Amino acid sequence: MGANSGGRNWTPDSWRGLPIAHQPEYPDAAALAAVEKQLGRYPPLVFAGEARQLQTHLAEVAAGRAFLLQGGDCAESFAEFHADNIRDTFRVLMQMAVVMTFAAACPVVKVGRMAGQFAKPRSEPGENRDGVTLPSYKGDSINGMDFTTEARTPDPERLLQAYSQAAATLNLLRAFAQGGYADLHRVHGWNMGFVANTPQGERYEDLADRISEALAFMSACGLAADDEVPEVYQTDFYTSHEALLLGPEQAMTRIDSTSGDWYDTSAHLLWIGDRTRQLDGAHVEFMRGLSNPLALKAGPSLEADELLRLVDILNPDNRPGRLTVISRQGADGVEQGLVPLLRAIQREGRSVVWACDPMHGNTIKSATGYKTRPFDRVLSEVERTFAVHQAEGSYAGGIHIEMTGQDVTECLGGAQEITEHALADRYHTHCDPRLNASQSLELAFLIADSLKKRRAANGATRSKGANIVEAF
Ligand code: PEP
Ligand code: CO
Repeated sequence: MGANSGGRNWTPDSWRGLPIAHQPEYPDAAALAAVEKQLGRYPPLVFAGEARQLQTHLAEVAAGRAFLLQGGDCAESFAEFHADNIRDTFRVLMQMAVVMTFAAACPVVKVGRMAGQFAKPRSEPGENRDGVTLPSYKGDSINGMDFTTEARTPDPERLLQAYSQAAATLNLLRAFAQGGYADLHRVHGWNMGFVANTPQGERYEDLADRISEALAFMSACGLAADDEVPEVYQTDFYTSHEALLLGPEQAMTRIDSTSGDWYDTSAHLLWIGDRTRQLDGAHVEFMRGLSNPLALKAGPSLEADELLRLVDILNPDNRPGRLTVISRQGADGVEQGLVPLLRAIQREGRSVVWACDPMHGNTIKSATGYKTRPFDRVLSEVERTFAVHQAEGSYAGGIHIEMTGQDVTECLGGAQEITEHALADRYHTHCDPRLNASQSLELAFLIADSLKKRRAANGATRSKGANIVEAF
């Protein structure tokens, strides 16, 4: 696919030599090349068939029959690499998915921002402290967070550690998804202690009771005979990250022997960030030749005609599910920023999945000095995005969030009413502030309500009980 664009032939290295933004400056190019070569010999992390399956699910989203839930850390870190953290993020995503699936009778496609989300574009190339300037921290696969020359110097060996952490994370995610943890009979067990006593936790318990009753009812009727309905016992869970560092992505890009197409085997879905989507840049060139489903961040500076040109390059055959556009306009920018994009896509008859990232347009600095996000702005961007889609006759198909299963205090507000002073209590993120488990659940309920209203408005008639087994 995409072997040719504007007369250029695509190869996994055809991006080299093009203008490229947000790449680290490695002091030793030979050491980097050696690591990339080594990565090129490492086994793929995902299989092409799985990426194709995800695209099929995303085509259902594009058609308005499913919803995309994509979430995880802003940046995974070596220090917080622990089974408990992976499990907790996984289970909050499962809770969110079950809330949306059950409350809104809508199948949810689950994609972790996990198992490879290490490299970050930064607004400033350098950081100054007390008159000393060092390179900015760019994510654990590039450099370290400590403010020392040694830590901040990009080190290619980190790419190998990132690969092995991604492999181990993916292995555990596969085990959780397929090995019994995602069994709907365990729906109560996903509620974590510190969430259970919050209003969201209680609302979730209530919903879990209803799911258990529905399962018991179906089983009593002989409808969900134990091993005949795998959807009850396991789930499909996919991985994704921003394809920022093209050298290592190229190293993981292989020909699929079944289709003969090129797949980046570092994740099922890769996205292009808002800062690296230049039409003639290296990122767009690299991504267009991949057969994985792709996503593109769309911030306020993206004009409608530029979006159309990007869509032409990234999805020339107009395949449903191939391209997800993740809009991140900021709560107050939705009407002005998103509407022209929606209209252009509709006018040109292009098929995209529309997702909303309510995080990156709503970042502020608190009076106490923390980079944070007011939860009410996050909710507001989601609500306004749904409203705009509804008004334009378009389909708001998904959500892209930075979240964690941990009880962190990084975003202001929510039912726990996290204040500017409380941010200091448990502010652990390695990059941007994340929703904690309780805030994530609150958001899921809000989305479920919006999905439900939309279904009612569109006159959908399917029964919840039947749908949950089919969907999950
Ligand atoms: C991100 O998703 O962490 C990010 C940097 O987003 P964006 O490209 O939308 O700014
Ligand atoms: Co971020």
